[in-house]
Amino acid sequence: MPRLALLGGEPLRRKPLGRWPLIGDEEVGAVERVLRRGKLCATMYSSEEVAKFEEEFAAVVGVKRAVAVSSGTAALDVVLRAIGVRLGDEVITTPYTFIATATSILHNHGVPVFADVEPATRNIDPREIERRITERTKAIVVVHFAGHPAEMDEIMEIAERHGLYVIEDAAHAHLAEYKGRMAGSLGHAAIFSFQESKNMTAGEGGIITTDDEELAEQCASLREHGRRRDRPWYYHEVLGWNYRMTEIQAAILRVQLRRLPKLTEERRRNARYLSKVLEEFEFLSPPRVAPYVKHAYHLYPLDYQPSVLGIDKHTLARVLQAEGIPLSEGYCWPIYENPIFSDPSRMPEVPFKVLGREVRYGRGLCPVAEKLCYETGMWLPGYVLNAPRDELDDVARALEKINRCRDELAEASRLLASQHSP
Ligand SMILES: Cc1ncc(COP(=O)(O)O)c(C=O)c1O
Repeated sequence: MPRLALLGGEPLRRKPLGRWPLIGDEEVGAVERVLRRGKLCATMYSSEEVAKFEEEFAAVVGVKRAVAVSSGTAALDVVLRAIGVRLGDEVITTPYTFIATATSILHNHGVPVFADVEPATRNIDPREIERRITERTKAIVVVHFAGHPAEMDEIMEIAERHGLYVIEDAAHAHLAEYKGRMAGSLGHAAIFSFQESKNMTAGEGGIITTDDEELAEQCASLREHGRRRDRPWYYHEVLGWNYRMTEIQAAILRVQLRRLPKLTEERRRNARYLSKVLEEFEFLSPPRVAPYVKHAYHLYPLDYQPSVLGIDKHTLARVLQAEGIPLSEGYCWPIYENPIFSDPSRMPEVPFKVLGREVRYGRGLCPVAEKLCYETGMWLPGYVLNAPRDELDDVARALEKINRCRDELAEASRLLASQHSP
């Protein structure tokens, strides 16, 4: 009879399951090329790798323009400023995301308004968006969570009816598709991240994509101290930042972009396989994918039913991690329960003052997102889907082991609780 690794038994695997990031000779060669050229900084007046990367990325997404920046967070800051988010404007977004999606609204002196998500995809629910629109609403920031695009047709229809901008936060959604169109080309503009965990990476990096030439020029200016291409170096037209991408980042990303289709197809194939295998486990359900969607699998979401095993998702994550399976408990609270939002003394006062009404963030605001965070929402990192099949099978083997060791789970729970108590 096996014993759980958390309780001292033999772990199912000792080697990491999957490896990320994938860096090869081509990236090394690309960095060397830039170093030998001796030009590391890219500006709007002169750039080689960054300009080429922007063109190549725009072509892949199927948009007219792409503006590369230093991170996904920088891309959000820039694009919200560029569409004209100003003091006291309300921006509707999802609470089931990384903090930067919402803090970029605060950095632009706007007011984040959280709309609940759909349980199947964990993406913002169009009906919840509509309920939260006021005369102060300026924009909607939609996240394609894990790489499954949000319901963009419905969202664009609502936005058009109310005269709102839609920004896609496609940080998870490189090469994702919605009804035959690429994520990043579905709203008025979109952002992507190239931070190390993302499906293509240079350690850090980000990009804005749009079909709106004027908006792209505005973003390029904001990225670079408010400069303009047709004006001198020390002319600054608007309040901007230094959010430039470097030549080295772009050179690496050009290689990663070429490799991305193959890796993404492999993730999709292995996701279909894993989802079939996981059907037999009643405590963990595979992700639901709409038939008109191609998933990017930055993450492989899993829905956990705690009542089956009688342990919470945190315990399950620790138990599986001890077996060598990198199951994550995912977001553990909606972003509005972070002190930035839930503690009024930490709030930037100004945008809230001009609203003339109280804005309260806290428990109860978005019940579906809360249930996902507290009880059911888990995931495997997407890079696991780039592991060889025989290694991927260890996920099911580990779940079978859990099934066989059910009577040890209460002990595992007690052990973890004792480690956390003071
Ligand atoms: C949904 C989402 N938006 C934005 C970001 C921010 O991107 P970056 O880390 O490149 O600043 C992330 C990063 O993890 C993210 O997951």
